[in-house]
Amino acid sequence: SLRIALVPAAGHGSRFGAATPKQYLPLHGQPLLAHTLDVLCGCADIDRVVVVVSPADEWFDSYRWPHAKLEVLRVGGASRALSVANGLAALALDDDDWLLVHDAARCCLSPAALQRLLDEVQDDAIGGILAQPVADTVKQGTKVGRIAATIPREGLWLAQTPQMFRAGLLGEALQDAANPVITDEASAIELLGHAPKLVLGEAQNFKVTWPQDLALASAILQLVNV
Ligand code: CTP
Ligand code: MG
Repeated sequence: SLRIALVPAAGHGSRFGAATPKQYLPLHGQPLLAHTLDVLCGCADIDRVVVVVSPADEWFDSYRWPHAKLEVLRVGGASRALSVANGLAALALDDDDWLLVHDAARCCLSPAALQRLLDEVQDDAIGGILAQPVADTVKQGTKVGRIAATIPREGLWLAQTPQMFRAGLLGEALQDAANPVITDEASAIELLGHAPKLVLGEAQNFKVTWPQDLALASAILQLVNV
């Protein structure tokens, strides 16, 4: 069976608030997305890397992407889950193929964390995701910004990507992709009654979300590339 990375890159970056979607913002002389693709395309265990962009995307074609494994699908949807579901449907994969869904906006994923996910999930019956144990004390807030409760953090994890599942199982799970409770692939698999594996992620694999995140991503890429 093949291993295929699927990269949803059809978002608008509304929290980032730039005129250009964040995946195309310049970072060390390349679009942010190029750094994400470098890690996935550089992994010998990944056979294909498929980027899902919006049908209205006006940026992807203006770059020369130096990656032989790279393909693009212009089937992005109204939500991340729909972009992934549309991409998966367009690929017509074998049920046994592994899909690794990875946010375009997580451009600082390390090769080591990616390899850890591949190694720890390849023999798993369900699949799994990179995630990090919650380090801070967690508060439930009220609408007026006061603390309503402290949530015990034991057993709480923050989900990252890649999220690695068999194409057949993920396709079945994402038939419900319009359901707003599906905010990552694992949540869709959970709705089928399965318990995906948690594989230790890393702090550097954060998602560029807010404007101040770009400087952090720049500093991390600078550090790992020297
Ligand atoms: N994504 C997508 N299709 C969508 C929405 C998001 O492919 N309809 C992608 C984004 O491009 C990103 C990843 O899913 O790589 C994670 O989403 P997020 O960080 O929320 O990005 P945006 O949706 O672009 O940002 P925002 O929510 O702030 O608008
Ligand atoms: Mg979003």
